[in-house]
This record gives sequence, structure tokens and C-alpha cells, in this order.
Amino acid sequence: MATMISKKRSGSSDDHRDPFSAAKKHQPLSKPPPPHAEDPAAALANARHEFGEHGGVNMSIEASATFTVMEPETMRRMFTGELGPDRDFFIYSRHFNPTVLNLGRLMASLEGTEAAYCTASGMSAVSSVLLQLCSAGGHVVASRTLYGGTHTLLANFLPRTCNITTSFVDIRDHEAVRSAMVQGRTNVLYFETMSNPTLTVANVPELCRMAHDKGITVVVDNTFSPMVVSPARLGADVVVHSMSKFISGGADLIAGAVCGPASLVNSMMDTHQGSLMLLGPTMNPKVAFELAGRLPHLGLRMKEHCNRALVYATRMKKLGLKVIYPGLEDHPDHATLKSMAVKEYGFGGLLCVDMETEERANRLMNLLQNCSQFGLMAVSLGYYETLMSCSGSSTSSELSEEEKELAGISPGLVRMSIGFSGTLEQKWSHFTKALSRMQDPTLFNKI
Ligand SMILES: Cc1ncc(COP(=O)(O)O)c(C=O)c1O
Repeated sequence: MATMISKKRSGSSDDHRDPFSAAKKHQPLSKPPPPHAEDPAAALANARHEFGEHGGVNMSIEASATFTVMEPETMRRMFTGELGPDRDFFIYSRHFNPTVLNLGRLMASLEGTEAAYCTASGMSAVSSVLLQLCSAGGHVVASRTLYGGTHTLLANFLPRTCNITTSFVDIRDHEAVRSAMVQGRTNVLYFETMSNPTLTVANVPELCRMAHDKGITVVVDNTFSPMVVSPARLGADVVVHSMSKFISGGADLIAGAVCGPASLVNSMMDTHQGSLMLLGPTMNPKVAFELAGRLPHLGLRMKEHCNRALVYATRMKKLGLKVIYPGLEDHPDHATLKSMAVKEYGFGGLLCVDMETEERANRLMNLLQNCSQFGLMAVSLGYYETLMSCSGSSTSSELSEEEKELAGISPGLVRMSIGFSGTLEQKWSHFTKALSRMQDPTLFNKI
């Protein structure tokens, strides 16, 4: 656990750093994930545990923006790339930072990729990976059902700023996807494992095969289903996350990650051509420390999010509500999800209830929050409390009416990210209380 600083203080030169202790402390970026690590929780547990500077059970926070060297020659060698973070040489924290790199290693273990690096937000992970993989005039084939911010980035921002254009397709229509991908022209196939708000599930292995046949890189946003599905283990080249959601679990941080080959992560950090290095949306090490402490219980949290979502979806359906949940056999992608999901975790923590009109959706959410405390009216997901939003007028409001119709977003669609606070039965009683109030005509317009 000797540190770079303490060794330097004792007068050792940069070239006399103990290579074994550096290797012990930091696995090289190129170390492949263990081949047997199928369950993400097992893979996470196999990742080396980083101890604190003084033997603390948690890793230390390397809060420095810049790093010193013992000899001027070392600086030159760091800038040529000869000495790098795999040998414990750091330049500046917008480039690799040790604490952020440690979280990146955990994310790589979770997703089964060779490497990963963390970003200031999910959107910066999405935008910097696309900008790294596409040059001006590039082409993306993307799912029509995407998080609104990503959809707008591809539909408006990238065409205007870089002439990177996107063909949007129904990701379930494999013939349409195949014909939209043009060998030699399309750079990236981009989709979400499970996508907002109708919980469309992409057939990851099949889509990857189709893209790889044409030499196209597959980037998958796995924000909705960490642990449940591991896209890279199913063939995807790159996995991106908004860590602001399930991975954080606290609705208190904005963060993202890019998980993929070491060559991609290193290219994104290149001092001359790297999107993360040059646009600068890397993660603050204090945020990295927070998130590293939450990853070990992500699996437990996901199991409970998923368990409650399945129980509530089943019961809501029995009550006659129009429920969309990929864990239910009547969901069009149930079989696809079942074939990809790691069994222990279930089918995801989100469900939708279609109340048909926005007025009925708003009334239900109002009662669920203000009469019975079932959940909170808020966008986002993965919090320990249930979060509810009417997708058409919130997270998908960027879409035109026609695009909403194509994506199956009814004006009364209420998306719920199911939390795990309180007991399952206590929260279910909150739901039924609000629903009976909604169905009582004498109480119309009263909370
Ligand atoms: C699927 C998905 N991807 C990316 C993002 C963007 O993440 P962030 O808000 O952390 O920038 C979101 C945010 O809601 C999301 O739902």
C-alpha cells in the first residue's frame, strides 16, 4: 500500500518505482475480464478490492487535479504515452485519475468489458463515445425508442454540429435494421437494452451479429437494466450507462460510464484526438468514491426493484389495468428478455400503466403521491422510492406526435420506477387506496 508520494518523499526516482507494487495497485487497462464471470455480481466480487492509503477498507479519494514527478524526463515520457496509468503514472485529473480509474475497473467487471472510464453524466458518456467512433459525415443507425436526450442529440445536435446523421429504425424489425446499416458507411448501431417508455427490449445477440457482419460497432445503453442484462457478454462492443439511475440508487448524483475495449477507452483519453480528454466531461473523484461504495449492493437492490415490479405488475393486471411490463408473458419482448436476463435478477424495475388520457394519468399520479404516498411524481429512475411520470408530457416530450405514436407512447402512459422502501404489502395498500379513490365518482377532483 506504499504510495507514489511517500516513495518520492523518501527520495526514490520515478524510474525506481517498484513495478510490482504498481502492478498490484493498478491492473493494466488491457487485462481481460475473467472468462467465467457470467453473473455480474460474481464478476464484481472478482475485481481487485482497492484499499485506502492507510489500510482503510475503502479506497482513498485522490482529489488532486495534478500530479508531480521526480524527474523532468518522466513528464515527457508520460506525454508520449510511454508511461501511463497502468504503471501508476498520472498527469492531470481531466485525463486519468486513480479514483475514477478504480471505479472504471469495477464498471468493466460489472459489464464484462476489457476496460471502462467514468464520465460526469450519462449524456456525456453517450455523446463522447459517439464522437469518438464517428467522424464528420459519419452515420449512425439507432433505435427509434431512445431516451429523449439521446434521441435529440442524434436527431438535431450531431447533424448540425458535425454532419453526423442518424437513421432511426424499429429495433424489433430486424429487416429494417439490416437494410439501414450500410457497410463502409455506417459507423455505429446504437440502441438501449430496455428502452423508454414502453420497455421495448432489444435482441442484443441477434443485433450484434447483424452489425458485426457489416463491420459496424455496436453501442448499447444499459441504464435501465444493470445486472439484469449484460450486453457486452451478449456481443456488444461498448456499453454506456447513466450511473445517475439504478447504479447510484440515491437520486443524488449525475454520472455516467463508457465500458468497452481498452483501445477505445485509451483513444477517448488521447491528448490529441480523445473526446473525453478534449471535451472534458470526466468524473469528479469524489463522485467516483461515492459510487464505488454503492456498486457492491447494486445486485441486492436490483433484485428487490425487479421483484416488486413483477408483483405489482401482476396484481395491477388482475385489477384490470393496462400494464406494460416485460416480465409479464403478454409483453411482446418477454421471451427475448428471458433469453438474455441473468435469472436471479428478474425483469427490470420499471413498469408502465396506460391510463389512456393525460388527465386520468395526472389524477392517478396525484392520488398516488398526495393521498396515499405510494410514490413521488418525478422523472428519472432507480431511486429507492417509487418515481412516476407521464412520459408523453415529460421524458418523451421532445418527440413529435407522430414519433410518439410510432413509439407506442399513449398520452396517458404513466411510467413507474418501482422503489423498495417500506414493505411490499404496505406500498401495495397505498396503491389500491389511491386507485379506489380514483374510481369513486363521488370523490372526483378531490384528493
Ligand atoms: C436511458 C438513458 N440514457 C442516458 C440518460 C442520460 O443520463 P444523465 O441524466 O446521467 O446524463 C438517461 C437519463 O435519463 C437515460 O434514461
